[in-house]
Amino acid sequence: MVNVIGLGYIGLPTALMMASHGVEVIGTDYNKDLVATLMEGKTTFKEDGLDELFKNAVKAGVKFTTEYPVADTYIISVPTPYDKFSKKVDACYVVATVKEILKVCPNGATIVVESTVSPRTIDKNVRPAIEDEGYKIGKDINLVHAPERIIPGNMVYELIHNNRTVGADNRAIGESIKDLYSSFCKGEIVVTDIKTAEMSKVVENTFRAVNIAFANELAKICRHENMNVYEIIRICNMHPRVNILQPGPGVGGHCISVDPWFLVGDYPTLAKVIDESMKTNDNMPDFVLNRIYEIMKEKGLNWSVIIKVQSQIARK
Ligand SMILES: NC(=O)c1ccc[n+]([C@@H]2O[C@H](COP(=O)([O-])OP(=O)(O)OC[C@H]3O[C@@H](n4cnc5c(N)ncnc54)[C@H](O)[C@@H]3O)[C@@H](O)[C@H]2O)c1
Repeated sequence: MVNVIGLGYIGLPTALMMASHGVEVIGTDYNKDLVATLMEGKTTFKEDGLDELFKNAVKAGVKFTTEYPVADTYIISVPTPYDKFSKKVDACYVVATVKEILKVCPNGATIVVESTVSPRTIDKNVRPAIEDEGYKIGKDINLVHAPERIIPGNMVYELIHNNRTVGADNRAIGESIKDLYSSFCKGEIVVTDIKTAEMSKVVENTFRAVNIAFANELAKICRHENMNVYEIIRICNMHPRVNILQPGPGVGGHCISVDPWFLVGDYPTLAKVIDESMKTNDNMPDFVLNRIYEIMKEKGLNWSVIIKVQSQIARK
């Protein structure tokens, strides 16, 4: 039996997907209202295909609870924010979840951390939390990191079709978790070690953040020169080996605006390009508002609302 802990954007569709593909699943969340909503037969957010997936999973027997049940495999999909000051990953939700699991799990259970974490988070935070309770990792408890890649808006499709990474200390355990995900995932599943899985997940989102920052920086340079950045990018992308992204008003979401900071926090003297990229992206809302303000002023429109929005952003 699999217990998926944290029934948010990642945990809920994962639990539903496994359940509707023949895996016995109990989903746990400590948010009583969220669990009550699911138990009433309603989903907690909108997503293409989620309601149908939910119905199939309920028919297949998925259960929801605020408790931590006895299970063979625990999948942790709780938040991993970054510390605003140090920029390092804040693993407190993951560690708190591991401690709850240890109170109930049988000998030989496997804990899969799906939450995104920076390289060595599992070594620094999760292993000590397990070993301090007297468990031997690899004997009493197995550890796996299986990060998720899905994007809100296309989750159900991507859960099935994306490639995945499974990091484990032990090849046989890695293969058994690969088999579990293979119940629904048609993509390629690479089995590697935990640190490689941690690093590759964070690097993927960092690649995206840096490339978005490049497009945003071009927008700023072109504005300075009063040139059309979209036309410049269109022409550059006609080169066979150039593929510049589009600039935009900033980066949101759970991943690209968060995960690259983990590398800045962990490697402050090395992650220079990443640090500047994140600052460039974070500055875009202000840049865009300034531009709107300039245009409204030029056209004699009432721009006071822009000043209000800017001061609200500054207060955050
Ligand atoms: N949202 C995405 O698009 C996305 C994509 C890939 C990876 N991720 C990663 O997946 C992880 C989860 O993200 P999310 O977007 O699903 O978060 P979320 O905030 O939507 O959901 C997390 C859930 O965990 C629950 N929770 C927290 N601590 C708990 C505990 N100790 N016991 C039981 N429940 C607990 C919360 O109540 C919440 O419902 C994060 O590490 C995130 O970086 C997210």
